[in-house]
Amino acid sequence: MSQFSELIKKEKQFVIQTYSRYPVALKKGDGVYVWDLNNKKYLDFLSGITVNNLGYNHKQIGKVIKESVGDLIHTSNLFYLKPQLRLAEKLSKCTNKGKVFFANSGAEANEAAIKFARAYGNQFKKARKKIITLKNSFHGRTLATIFATGQKKYQKGFQPKVGNYIYADANNITKIKKFLKDDVAAVLIELIQGEGGVNKLDPDFVRFLYSECKKKKILFMVDEIQTGYGRTGKLFAFQHYNIVPDVITMAKAMANGFPMGAMVVKKEVAGLFKPGMHASTFGGGYLISAVAEKVLDIINNKKFLKDVRVISEYFHKKLLAIEKKYDFVLQCKGMGLMYGLKMKCNCSKVVQDLLKQGLITNCVQNNVLRFLPPLIIQKKHVDEAVEKIDSVFFSL
Ligand SMILES: Cc1ncc(COP(=O)(O)O)c(C=O)c1O
Repeated sequence: MSQFSELIKKEKQFVIQTYSRYPVALKKGDGVYVWDLNNKKYLDFLSGITVNNLGYNHKQIGKVIKESVGDLIHTSNLFYLKPQLRLAEKLSKCTNKGKVFFANSGAEANEAAIKFARAYGNQFKKARKKIITLKNSFHGRTLATIFATGQKKYQKGFQPKVGNYIYADANNITKIKKFLKDDVAAVLIELIQGEGGVNKLDPDFVRFLYSECKKKKILFMVDEIQTGYGRTGKLFAFQHYNIVPDVITMAKAMANGFPMGAMVVKKEVAGLFKPGMHASTFGGGYLISAVAEKVLDIINNKKFLKDVRVISEYFHKKLLAIEKKYDFVLQCKGMGLMYGLKMKCNCSKVVQDLLKQGLITNCVQNNVLRFLPPLIIQKKHVDEAVEKIDSVFFSL
């Protein structure tokens, strides 16, 4: 039996079958490329679903890991952790000047935000018990976050419902207006819905919602788990909209592959969470925080983000040409280095065909072919990817 067949057998036998995996086992990565067990090389245009924003085997990240391992890996949050506090200060300064809670994943960051919204809503004389999210959103796989997610397919089989959510239509001011009452504690939105099909929210809709939330003392919470850390060409997507959210959640790319999540809450209300109200054993651990600080230093840099915007424009132009060339491509969506090609057909086969050609992508909502390349890609990588896309599309 080949090494790969053995892996498939083991996975079936010992792992709970929640994932449909690609027929590939990867063994190493460097820059924007990864290699499988047979040494086949792949250009990664998915970045571990926007986690490896700095690519693989990044020298500066590797150096921090090596140095920190020699100091401490973990101590718990019963102690003051120097790298965690340095990171918290930097995150505060580049977001809403608020205070940070550290978690280990996107769902956990959103759980913290949902708990925070409840604490916030419960302090009103007439408790505010509702949270508004958007249809087609995605906020994670824990019980609270699947019900915050405005897609039934993630909730199916997991009733009874946890939480009191209203699912509003994205980009529909008239409809959402009706929900913005004094029984609402918070609104939680993604500015570009990633899993929902790479749907960008209209600036008018976002600014209306933001100003209504301010007027009505509703917490304005933005899920930047997919859109944060340079993905859209700015450090955070909210910076494109000229708004400053009350609560920002982030995860994925924070430590370029190590699990980390965070919630940043504006100073005026952050004190609502008191000792004992929320916690995480691993959250903001010593080594991970040191790594995350380095990631933030690299990405939160004018030149780095400008380069992302420049390459993004180049990639966008190429994708628009593909959209024009093939009738079955309905629309090119997204911004920064977060793009989707909406197809007439299901795109799972296209993803597999591209994989055979050595390009890693994925498919969301059955018909959106999604690209989330590392932010360090260069023109030659875009050319290589587009060539592969063109050749697979040509043979469809
Ligand atoms: C917008 C958004 N929120 C939350 C999550 C959940 O993050 P995690 O898988 O780290 O729990 C994701 C994951 O894809 C996401 O895209």
